[in-house]
Amino acid sequence: MRPWMDGPDRPREAGPLEELRRAGVDLDPAPPAEHRHGDLAHAHDHPHPHRASEPGAHPLIGIVGAGAVGTALGVAFTRAGWPVSAVASRDPGRRERFLRLVGAGTRAFAEANALLDEVELIVLSVPDDAIAVVASELHLYSGQALVHTSGLLGAEVLAPAMAAGTQIGSFHPLVAFADTERAVAALHGATVALEGDDQLVSLLAELAEAIGAVPVRLAPGAKAAYHAAAVLAAGGFVALLDAIAELGRVAGLDEAGSLAVYGPLVRQALGNAQALGIRAALTGPITRGDVGTLEAHLAELRRHAPAVLPLYLAAAEREVELAEGRGALAPDAAIRLRRSLAKPA
Ligand SMILES: NC(=O)c1ccc[n+]([C@@H]2O[C@H](COP(=O)([O-])OP(=O)(O)OC[C@H]3O[C@@H](n4cnc5c(N)ncnc54)[C@H](OP(=O)(O)O)[C@@H]3O)[C@@H](O)[C@H]2O)c1
Repeated sequence: MRPWMDGPDRPREAGPLEELRRAGVDLDPAPPAEHRHGDLAHAHDHPHPHRASEPGAHPLIGIVGAGAVGTALGVAFTRAGWPVSAVASRDPGRRERFLRLVGAGTRAFAEANALLDEVELIVLSVPDDAIAVVASELHLYSGQALVHTSGLLGAEVLAPAMAAGTQIGSFHPLVAFADTERAVAALHGATVALEGDDQLVSLLAELAEAIGAVPVRLAPGAKAAYHAAAVLAAGGFVALLDAIAELGRVAGLDEAGSLAVYGPLVRQALGNAQALGIRAALTGPITRGDVGTLEAHLAELRRHAPAVLPLYLAAAEREVELAEGRGALAPDAAIRLRRSLAKPA
């Protein structure tokens, strides 16, 4: 592995053994092995008291943060034959759940630095706001790599953890991790955006492919837009569904009823967009320049679902642009539609 920067490795800090003991977690790590000059090593390696994989084997993986993403990735990696050697979580309940789901071969730690003795590739799956803080408390050994799973942040946020011969990167699965088993299933065919040095990225790409995902390497500086689109596709779409359900309630449908009625329409619209392109998939009163229908909708929303109005208006403005763009709307029809959308309540 190419060294990240020159200079001596950082000094190792003692872990809070008392806290670990009190938490009932593993205090008897396997005898240390000399670091090998393998996949995650480089020409300037020094021997260190941490475990190393056999030559040609997958790297020893450690996961920091046993939340939604950390736990689902732990399950997916292990099932794909890339076992997770260790997990660090401050919460005993989450540690217990992780071990139950991922398997007994994993060791659990309360403190992230304690896990570093056990692994070579560390996956930091903590909230975006905590990544820099947690990374600044980690002290990597030569030959180790640290990646986070944020869709927004660049790998550079991990730089404080680095020493000579270490690498940093990111591994962002484009999946909504609402439920562990559903997320593990959704990783099949999902995109995983990768960042990091070439050698680390190839290893991460292999790992992504092993769990059935499709690795992509984003252009530098593209992450914020990529992630904003993802947030619109997941959370934004759920917000849209919530607005649909609110209107469904006005029409006498409960949530399940709305999902049953409008779900097939949603799937049809997506299928049309995938088959025909987004512009061609647009249907509805706006493509027809039907101002009367638009005004009837706006009046109903103002009366019975005013909270949905801003979302409806924003979507309708975008629809007018789309319809104009594909030549479906005469200029005067577009003007009349825009005038209705801009009318005060
Ligand atoms: N949720 C998604 O759909 C999704 C999708 C793709 C990527 N991501 C990214 O994946 C990362 C993790 O997200 P998540 O949804 O798994 O979050 P989460 O469910 O909230 O889990 C976060 C984990 O990090 C630990 N943690 C929280 N605050 C911490 C702190 N200050 N210091 C150390 N550890 C802390 C938690 O506590 P314990 O240590 O007590 O376990 C928890 O186990 C984020 O960067 C997120 O952007 C999320």
